[in-house]
Amino acid sequence: MKNYKLAVVGATGVVGQKMIEVLNERKLPISEYVFFASCRSAGKSLRFGDDVYSVKELNEDSLKDNFDFALFSAGGETALKYAPIAAENGCVVIDNSSAFRMYDDVPLIVPEVNPDDITKHKGIIANPNCSTIQAVCALKPLDDAFKIKRIVYSTYQAVSGAGSKGIHDLENGIKDYCQNFDEEKISDSECCKTANYTLEKFKYPIFNNCLPHIDSFLDNGYTKEEEKMINETRKILRKPGLAITATTVRVPVFNSHCESINIEFEKEFELEEVFNVLKEAPGVIVEDDFQNELYAIPTSVSGHNEVFVSRIRRDFSIENGLNIWVVADNIRKGAASNAVQILENLIPTA
Ligand code: A2P
Repeated sequence: MKNYKLAVVGATGVVGQKMIEVLNERKLPISEYVFFASCRSAGKSLRFGDDVYSVKELNEDSLKDNFDFALFSAGGETALKYAPIAAENGCVVIDNSSAFRMYDDVPLIVPEVNPDDITKHKGIIANPNCSTIQAVCALKPLDDAFKIKRIVYSTYQAVSGAGSKGIHDLENGIKDYCQNFDEEKISDSECCKTANYTLEKFKYPIFNNCLPHIDSFLDNGYTKEEEKMINETRKILRKPGLAITATTVRVPVFNSHCESINIEFEKEFELEEVFNVLKEAPGVIVEDDFQNELYAIPTSVSGHNEVFVSRIRRDFSIENGLNIWVVADNIRKGAASNAVQILENLIPTA
């Protein structure tokens, strides 16, 4: 069996670090790893299993060096500049940014949902948006069974999805609150209105807040995150005209995204059938026992690679309507483990 050479670009970032953790767990037939980041991290030590590697600065020649595969998680600009160089040099890139996701010749892959699209790649494969990945894992089997007519997404997204700067904003907000803790003002409406520290990522403090604003605003009033969920869902489910709307919200949770998804089907369904379809779905765990107050929450889902579905119930306000609650570790299934699964699909097992 061939042993492969793999690059991880953005190896020092939140997703890059998780990719390295997942690669170490999966033990793929890779004989050579090279870890890249920006000049800021060049020379830093990075632990991979029992070994310590030195991080290399990415430059225009870095990926011309006989790489078989590269996992990119270094933002859209870096991907646009360096992924084509890698692909031209025979390397297959799996990119976590949104730069290439909607290109016709770039497959957008969730291995449980559309693995057959992988073979259509021309050197670049896109990892979908974190919120889209977890949603389509639950939606695809439901679409196969009952034909989805319309989707309404409402998300509750963790700060880890905004990278290390997003995590710092929540950490700094908590520290500031604890330092200035005043029992008499514990529920003061003025609390945390402004930040006494430098916000690195968000426009407003994320601690004690919910921000209905992820990525930049478009002229039509939607955010790019909402647009990504809509367009990527259509592409992955191969339903270009599907009616979808979305509201994406950043919440003060460190890790794991939650989504309330309202679905309208063309076909009638029994709730029991929905449970059975979801229980059979690859990569999905149904955790739903409302009588015992059992449902998926970020703190129990973080660290898992599966997508958890709870609160499965009929929407009585429309015909053939369903509500579900979908939770997944956005850094694992929403990014790193999905990318590594794509890699596993590319590597012949024989
Ligand atoms: P660095 O740590 O050197 O800045 P996050 O979004 O979690 O902060 O991670 C972003 C990742 O992308 C980091 O590993 C970061 O490296 C990397 N990165 C950012 N810009 C570049 C670039 N121009 N070339 C290579 N890696 C980059």
